[in-house]
Parts: sequence; C-alpha cells; structure tokens
Amino acid sequence: MSGFEVIIYQKQDGIGYVTLNRPQALNAYNLQMRDELYQVLGAIRDDPEVEVVIFQGAGERAFCAGADLTEFLTAPSPVVARQVRWERDIWGLFLSIAKPLIAALHGYVLGSGIEIALCCDIRLASEDAQFGLPEPGLGIIPAAGGSQTLPRAIGRAGALEILLSGRWVTAEEAYRLKLVNRVVSRTELLPEAEKLARKIKAYNPLAVSYAKQAVTRGLDLSLEEGLELEAKLSHCLLALSEKKRG
Ligand code: COA
Repeated sequence: MSGFEVIIYQKQDGIGYVTLNRPQALNAYNLQMRDELYQVLGAIRDDPEVEVVIFQGAGERAFCAGADLTEFLTAPSPVVARQVRWERDIWGLFLSIAKPLIAALHGYVLGSGIEIALCCDIRLASEDAQFGLPEPGLGIIPAAGGSQTLPRAIGRAGALEILLSGRWVTAEEAYRLKLVNRVVSRTELLPEAEKLARKIKAYNPLAVSYAKQAVTRGLDLSLEEGLELEAKLSHCLLALSEKKRG
C-alpha cells in the first residue's frame, strides 16, 4: 500500500511493518494518522500474506508522543467527535485483529503512543523508552482504550498510579510492571522484534491466530467460559487441519 504520508506500511516475507512517520512532531497521533492507520489495519486484517506485524516509530526520539496537541479539541462539537469515532472504531479494529502484533518502542511513548502499544500483543522496549499518560494533566482521560487496556496489562493499582499521578516510567520500570515484555539496546530493538516475528511466523498461522484469540478473548470471560472458548477453538482448529489433510 502506498500514497500515505504519516504512516509507512511495508510487507516483507510475511511480516508487516507499520511505521508512525511524523518524526518532526515526535510521531504525534493526528487525524491524518488516524485515517491512514485505519486503512492499514484493515489491510493487515484482510491480507493473508501478512502473518505478523511490527509497529515502530520513525526517527530517533519517539515511538509516539501522544495525540497531536495542535489538533486538541478541534472537532466542531463533541457530537461530531463522537459520530466520527462511532463510524470509524479504530481501536476496536486494532483489538479485533487476530494476528500477532509486536510493538517496538523507543524514546517517548506517551498518551496514544502507550495506547497503540497496548493494542499490540508483545511489547519490546529499548533502554531509552519513557512511558507516560499525560491526559489527566490536560483535563481529559485516555480515549484510545488506555483506561481499559492498561489495567488489563499491569493491574489496577499500577495503572491508576501512572494515570492519576502523571508519573513517567522508564523502560526498566515498565519491564518490572509487565508493561513491556523485554528491554533491549536501541540498536537491537528492530532486529529483536524481527527475530520474534520470524519465530512466530514459522508456526501454523491458524494455530497462532487461535492461540491469540483464546488468550485475548478469554481474558474477559469467566474461567468456565474461557475453558469453553478454548475447547471450541481447539476443536475448530483440529477440524480445519483434518479437512486440509483430507
Ligand atoms: N503534539 C504535537 N506536536 C508535538 C507533540 C504532540 N503531542 N509532542 C511533541 N510535538 C512537537 C513539538 O511541538 C516540537 O515541534 P517544533 O519543533 O515544531 O516546535 C517537536 O515535536 C519536538 O518536541 P519538543 O517539545 O521540542 O521536544 P522536547 O524534547 O523538548 O520534549 C516532550 C519532548 C515529549 C516532553 C514534549 O514534546 C511534550 O511534552 N509533548 C507533549 C506530550 C503530550 O502531552 N502528549 C499528548 C498526550 S494526550
């Protein structure tokens, strides 16, 4: 896919690469980025050639410094803002993708930057990464799913402390809080993400997708319902494999 300005989307050997590309504004998430990302996420969901995706930020300083403050509260009215959101549920689309998504995080990872990372399944950070949710300081709350995805990732107390105090955390602390899976050097960030992507890609994509669904959908169910979901997915996967063999 080409013709984008603030997102770079590339495919290589079954791996999709999504790069937030506004380095001059620390990859701040603006309306154009929302529109381009929405198209890219749809392509990722529908393209059988893409098995694993890596998200990263362009430039040396940031994965994403949050929502673009120059567009802050520029919607003509709250009703219009809600309508746009309803018609184009980008975060719902992000979270519904059944393929593994890896975030490679460096520099500033703020506001919607953290929220994009939290829509991914595995988060790698470089040593220079800094995480924060500046929303309450701006009189708003996270609106890209962060109030729901952060506590699911790191628990209620940790999430509330970061959100309510506005305190930033380093990559090391993010690792201790289980916000990121691993911390690596800046030069190793993309190679490590690619190594992981290639490892996942070597497995049966259907098994990978079902495993992701069992975990992500199961997290919001009771244990009993989760076990039912697991049994269903497992049965379905076996049936599909038999059919393929037959
Ligand atoms: N929206 C729009 N532009 C942003 C931005 C954002 N969220 N974050 C950074 N930028 C722009 C700056 O305006 C600056 O542009 P300029 O060079 O044209 O002046 C450029 O990116 C570099 O940022 P700068 O502030 O000069 O870098 P810094 O190292 O001094 O500070 C931050 C970095 C991240 C601490 C600071 O940019 C910041 O606080 N950004 C806002 C974070 C935020 O509140 N995000 C919203 C979350 S809801």
